Amino acid sequence: MKTQVKSLSPEAVDEAADLLRSGQVVAIPTETVYGLAANAFDEAAVARIFAAKGRPQDNPLIVHIAELDALPQVAADIPPAARLLAEAFWPGPLTIVLPRQPGLAPAVSAGLATVGVRMPAHEGARQVIRAAGVPLAAPSANLSGSPSPTAADHVLADMTGRIPLILDGGQSPVGVESTVLSLAGVPTVLRPGFVTPQEIEDVLGEPVRLSPALEAPPAEDAVPESPGMKYQHYAPRARLTILSGDFDAFTDYVTLENQQRPGVFALCFEGEEKRLPVPAVAYGREGDAASQAAGLFSALRELDARGAAVAYARGPAAGGIGLAVRNRLLRAAGFREIQV
Ligand code: TXA
Ligand code: MG
Repeated sequence: MKTQVKSLSPEAVDEAADLLRSGQVVAIPTETVYGLAANAFDEAAVARIFAAKGRPQDNPLIVHIAELDALPQVAADIPPAARLLAEAFWPGPLTIVLPRQPGLAPAVSAGLATVGVRMPAHEGARQVIRAAGVPLAAPSANLSGSPSPTAADHVLADMTGRIPLILDGGQSPVGVESTVLSLAGVPTVLRPGFVTPQEIEDVLGEPVRLSPALEAPPAEDAVPESPGMKYQHYAPRARLTILSGDFDAFTDYVTLENQQRPGVFALCFEGEEKRLPVPAVAYGREGDAASQAAGLFSALRELDARGAAVAYARGPAAGGIGLAVRNRLLRAAGFREIQV
């Protein structure tokens, strides 16, 4: 299959919508990361998403809508808390897990009774949903296990020959995937993102729980709260380890490591590259979690492009959006972290 890349334009949106209505898969930009979209009511189309990504069959997809009126097509029950959150954060990077509408393609929920739904803030994404006329199931548009794509080039690198069309809507400004919040029982953050637990608490007026799986890999036999938690994610080919501590301790550690085992790379903050004795890729500014979120996935891909086999990362501060940055970095590092 030939894979075309087209800049967002009314014609390209119409072409994407035609493909989606005929059961094909199209990569679309969103404000978080690029998504691999298909008609959420078409089981064969949804199966094509899983095939294109090489995604495990038990990992459910997020459904994307363009207006609130479409929510009842996706969710069978909309509790007041969901309405409050939708009003506060949609369109935007918050996914709410709700009871699923039985008409959805079963594979969307991968056997669960629930569905994750969000309204993306990216204007191009909403244009495509409207033009297609149906809610779109869309996971991140990377091969399963690779870093999520934040640019059309990243999608092309992973999806060439696998899908007919990639819509290029520029760099994804948020850079990490949406916050996933379950409203079954105590509101629980299953995946941290740009919308922070504190912001959610402020809207709901009740405490929000963080899933324990955010800081440690779930035990092998445990049933995770969110199936995506059990898979290695966002991983560059390099063996990555987080070094938490200050810049001087980081520099000492990588210097010594590189003397003993040459070929070490650093994943650092902007401005630190030239002060390190090893090749370095920056992923954002120190103390600026939003810039780190925006740069992390492309920095991980850059490490691969430069052939890094071993890399050490500066540890981000974990507050607010930093919780999401730290979560993605921990997973990219297979939870390897050393205090220096
Ligand atoms: O920002 C985003 O959310 C992007 C863009 C394209 O919208 N999408 C995305 O999808 O990141 P994906 O499939 O890469 O991640 C979806 C995550 C997975 O960890 C999955 O396990 C979880 O959400 N999830 C989806 N539906 C769920 C459900 N019903 N219950 C619990 N977790 C769910
Ligand atoms: Mg993903």
